[in-house]
Amino acid sequence: MPTAIVTGATGILGREIVSALGDDKQWTKIHALSRSQKEKYPPTVQHDHVDLTAAPHEIAKQLKSQNVTGEYLFFAAYIAKDTEEEASTVNGALLQNFLEALSNNNVTLKRVVLVTGAKQYGVHLGPVKNPMHETDPWIDGPGRPPNFYYTQQRILYSAAKKQNFEWIVTYPNDVIGVARGNFMNMSTALAIYAGVNRELGKGELEFPGSETFYSRFDSFTSSRLHAQFSLWAIMEPRAGNQAFNVVNGDVESWSNLWPKVARKFGLKVPSRQFERDTPEGSEMDLEKVPPFEDLAAERGMEGKATQGKVQQRIDLVRWSQKKEVKEAWLRVAEREGLEKDALEKATWAFLGFVLGRNYDIVISMSKARKLGWTGYVDSWDALEESFDELAREKIAPKGV
Ligand SMILES: NC(=O)c1ccc[n+]([C@@H]2O[C@H](COP(=O)([O-])OP(=O)(O)OC[C@H]3O[C@@H](n4cnc5c(N)ncnc54)[C@H](OP(=O)(O)O)[C@@H]3O)[C@@H](O)[C@H]2O)c1
Repeated sequence: MPTAIVTGATGILGREIVSALGDDKQWTKIHALSRSQKEKYPPTVQHDHVDLTAAPHEIAKQLKSQNVTGEYLFFAAYIAKDTEEEASTVNGALLQNFLEALSNNNVTLKRVVLVTGAKQYGVHLGPVKNPMHETDPWIDGPGRPPNFYYTQQRILYSAAKKQNFEWIVTYPNDVIGVARGNFMNMSTALAIYAGVNRELGKGELEFPGSETFYSRFDSFTSSRLHAQFSLWAIMEPRAGNQAFNVVNGDVESWSNLWPKVARKFGLKVPSRQFERDTPEGSEMDLEKVPPFEDLAAERGMEGKATQGKVQQRIDLVRWSQKKEVKEAWLRVAEREGLEKDALEKATWAFLGFVLGRNYDIVISMSKARKLGWTGYVDSWDALEESFDELAREKIAPKGV
């Protein structure tokens, strides 16, 4: 009967892994690790308070005192940092020190799932090759910025050899889900944006992102589906020592989703929204040489990719700081019993980026499907489900 350790147990992705393991009777013991405990767990799950920024011998001590052991590790701990350099140093050490601590405690791992993301393909740097495949080369040639996923994967490969375990890496994108006390969540920010617009009383929900991206394609990942995938992959014999894209299996555009978001909150999309002036807009250039360029020559398209931009028709960071928005939010929060500082804590820069890019993000699921993975979620269903859950948990405003 397998046993598991999950780091990042309270995060948007880790939380669902713990929940899926707790629901699956074949897993007899699950150690859910994070600094805080945010919810109650079924009897097979034990929450352990661990600070992963400590030195390996310190982490080993913390683990020993709580009898943390397991054969399968799901690593979903993450610390956000302002720069990629810092993110690489901090998140690299997080993984390295934890694996070393387990080894110090003589914990024998069979397999490790490391949760990373589609920044693997440089989706944050500009236009990418579509669809994206796991075999695509890493965007880490000369002049490319550091990428903490590459740092973590290198650490993982080397530990796997030393500690004799098999590894699996997942690449989710634009995650749809719920986490308590973590506002870096697309659904939370969307629900707050819609709830405030409803409160402002104009009855409409203008798309704040890029007109170009509105009818381009994105691939989303339901955190619940990602958890099911992780449980499947860690037991699938042929999945060992491989990386996998993990997206819902549909391709969506905001021109399709936005009217549904508006309806969910009792609002309408202005019929000629893109003809409006954009005095509160912003534009930011991404990398001069887009990631696509690394693969362009062999496709006969060298020099064809243009530099990416993040174009916001309404700059969401500035929007969130407007007096009328703050006042409207306080009224909503008061009426619905929500946290008053949720507006301030929500990650507007992140949502602005997700909605403001001006290039497609299409991620292939072929590799996993060839190995027998059949999981699929409709992205609107996942988004609506997350809105309902956020409202139930009193994290974000409710729909109609
Ligand atoms: N969210 C997305 O949209 C998204 C999209 C694609 C990829 N990803 C990737 O998915 C991975 C997981 O991210 P996430 O978004 O799920 O993260 P998250 O929601 O921010 O959760 C981070 C987790 O790490 C734990 N943690 C933070 N500092 C810790 C520390 N010092 N010691 C122990 N635990 C600590 C947190 O728990 P405590 O605070 O309680 O300790 C929490 O459980 C990351 O690599 C991220 O880049 C995320």
